Amino acid sequence: MNLKTQLKRLAEEAFLSLKRTKGKEELENFRIAYLGRKGTLTRILRRIKDLPLEERKVIGKRANGLKQQLEEGLKLRLSRVEERRKVERFDITLPGIKPRLGHLHPITLISEEIRGTFQELGFEMVAGPEIETEYYNFEALNFPPEHPARDSFDSFYLAPEILLRSHTSPVQIRVMEKRKPPLRIITIGRCYRRDAIDASHFPVFHQIEGLMVGEKISFSHLKGVLTYFLQKIFSPDIRVRFLPSYFPFTEPSAEVSISCIFCKGAGCSSCGGSGWIEILGAGMINPMVLRKVKYDPEKFTGFAFGMGIERIAMLKHRISDIRLFWENDLRFLEQF
Ligand code: DAH
Repeated sequence: MNLKTQLKRLAEEAFLSLKRTKGKEELENFRIAYLGRKGTLTRILRRIKDLPLEERKVIGKRANGLKQQLEEGLKLRLSRVEERRKVERFDITLPGIKPRLGHLHPITLISEEIRGTFQELGFEMVAGPEIETEYYNFEALNFPPEHPARDSFDSFYLAPEILLRSHTSPVQIRVMEKRKPPLRIITIGRCYRRDAIDASHFPVFHQIEGLMVGEKISFSHLKGVLTYFLQKIFSPDIRVRFLPSYFPFTEPSAEVSISCIFCKGAGCSSCGGSGWIEILGAGMINPMVLRKVKYDPEKFTGFAFGMGIERIAMLKHRISDIRLFWENDLRFLEQF
């Protein structure tokens, strides 16, 4: 049988057997039988060089064409086998598993709500470091050197004169040092104090601090901003009370309370019978502080306020124990 006829038979046979192959193994056997080193087609290809020139041209072309066709056919069938294997691995009739989606922590949620409310009033959100120097945490805020809050029993010192901030008020100084009035900023972040842990104390907690500085900023601006904020966060019908207080960095200072959200001011166990719940500290920025940041107290005035985020969240959601925020018990977190 001449090579030409052999090639023809081979082609017929090979295409037929390729069609019948099933699975990866059979395809590999097919490849070895025809295209492998000792495969039938390979052997024919080797003999082509001994043919006379004219025949060599024609048969060579055919044999190489066949080789290419078989290789392509093989590749196609292999990819189909792969495809089928992938599909078969999934039982698409099985009922699906619903993914469990998490959500934001209640402290994050309330922080976002607070930020949104102040944003409506034109306050810009800024951030400050949690590791502070004594200068920013105390001195620039007019705490005298012997002030008890400076004691290492109250703050976490990392090194002499370096501590974890015990409140967000140092951010006031950092912002005023960098910018000129008018200013309207809030900051929300973690603070640290060496408090014994109980239902209302935890050594890590969050505060929101607000600051507004400009020409002719008065106590009535402070009252307006805080009343708007508190009524928005709690309820439009709460009343807000300002009582004189003391903070080194404000003068005059106020402690701010809201009418009890549980008894509406009648007096209950939550408000200790007084009808009021103290919620934040505030005041007009002390001229001593303005001078520290090189603002002229004759030209600029401003107010500041600070409050605990956990406390707001606890009141709003009637949470009785601050430790719940840190335990990450899903039975608690799932409720928000
Ligand atoms: N930094 C105070 C604290 O942690 C809270 C505070 C009071 C902040 C009065 C203020 C303020 O900005 O004006 O107890």
